[in-house]
Amino acid sequence: MNDHVPLKKLHIKTYGCQMNVYDSERMVDILRPLGYEVSDKAEGADLVLLNTCHIREKAAEKVYSEIGRLKEMREEKEARGEGRMTIAVAGCVAQAEGKEIMNRAPAVDLVVGPQAYHQLPELIARTHRSKGERLSADFAPEAKFDALTMDRAVSGPTAFLTVQEGCDKFCTFCVVPYTRGAEWSRPVKSILDEARALAAKGVRELTLLGQNVNAYNGLDADGLESTLAKLMYALADIQGMDRLRYTTSHPNDMGQDLIDAHRDLPAVMPYLHLPVQSGSDKILRAMNRKHGRQAYFDLIERIKAVRPDLAISGDFIVGFPGETDKDFEDTLDLIRRVGYASAFSFKYSPRPGTPAAGMPGQVPDDVADARLQTLQALIIEQQQAFKEKLIGQTLDILFEKPGRLVGQAIGRSPYLQSVFVEDAAHLIGQIHKVKIIANSNNSLKGELA
Ligand code: 5AD
Ligand code: SF4
Repeated sequence: MNDHVPLKKLHIKTYGCQMNVYDSERMVDILRPLGYEVSDKAEGADLVLLNTCHIREKAAEKVYSEIGRLKEMREEKEARGEGRMTIAVAGCVAQAEGKEIMNRAPAVDLVVGPQAYHQLPELIARTHRSKGERLSADFAPEAKFDALTMDRAVSGPTAFLTVQEGCDKFCTFCVVPYTRGAEWSRPVKSILDEARALAAKGVRELTLLGQNVNAYNGLDADGLESTLAKLMYALADIQGMDRLRYTTSHPNDMGQDLIDAHRDLPAVMPYLHLPVQSGSDKILRAMNRKHGRQAYFDLIERIKAVRPDLAISGDFIVGFPGETDKDFEDTLDLIRRVGYASAFSFKYSPRPGTPAAGMPGQVPDDVADARLQTLQALIIEQQQAFKEKLIGQTLDILFEKPGRLVGQAIGRSPYLQSVFVEDAAHLIGQIHKVKIIANSNNSLKGELA
């Protein structure tokens, strides 16, 4: 780095999904050459970036209270004579309500949507030059990835890699098609270049990210459309790239070659995040999910036929407009039939501009709360049952980081559970056979085999 550039403190706060985590890391990478080093607290930072999430109301509202807190910190910083704190809002709230942020939160200097992150250095410089003139960068459709991924830093043997963005599905509850735009896939070469660079830095496991990752159809070197399965074959060929995961998948995009990859490609981990949202055909229709519950069962049967030990994870929404007790029972029934290794569940949150927000039959809060509790209790039960089944098995564990006790290391099973092992700190960064000996709260305990 250039020694003449004085160090400036950058604090990034990330909300929401793994794609935001990935984007935040890339923003750090692109700002580092400008002299920004990461600070884990906002206090005293020269630049604070809020990477926001718009998926549910609560997530979006958090941003405004955070801006209020930052405004006070900025005043304190200036009073200490330490210069101005620049406040930037990125992510999906920035994309969805950029103008509203500018009006509602005058403290914000810069609003930048996910398609413009590669322009951050320039945008920040412009905010500085104009001494607080507020800028809003809007959707620029051009590919930003090559600019953002040239020299990415790694932390440990696992990494996220965005391969696809946006969504064309238009589920009636969801803002993603509006905030992240239409489905777009990165070209194969650009992904392979990034993956090779990561492998050279010791990364052994990639999680391929996309709002609709299994709809991936990026162009290959011959200008032909690829598929996620083909992409994974190429990634698995990279020396050292031993494990591949991908998220999030829509059931309707689960192609046969992707199912076959679960059988034929050892690098593809036996774990699949396959949200269904509801177990009621009536609600699935109202959600515009474009498939029914039987199709979901059939699909899972087909994947389990090639990979019987597959761990399945899902997302569920309770309290969607029109959801009756019977509809909710259908969801519980679906969960019992599938048997989940993990799942995320949410109370329906009406999002401005989405069709469901105006649907009749909005479910009272207390009813939705009670359903959420019932559903989550069932999921926890299944999660524990899945972990109990692993006791006594010997699994490949990729050790990621030290544990709390000296000598301990924490890694992940192929099925994504955390596993901690004594006297394994020397194995961090490697895959090792571990015998699972106990189920312990949120993780598993193992010993080197
Ligand atoms: N209300 C509640 N949950 C939602 N999700 C998406 N939109 C909403 C909403 N309006 C959930 C879905 C999705 C996950 C990422 O967030 O379950 O799969
Ligand atoms: Fe949202 Fe549905 Fe697209 Fe998932 S598939 S991002 S829930 S619109």
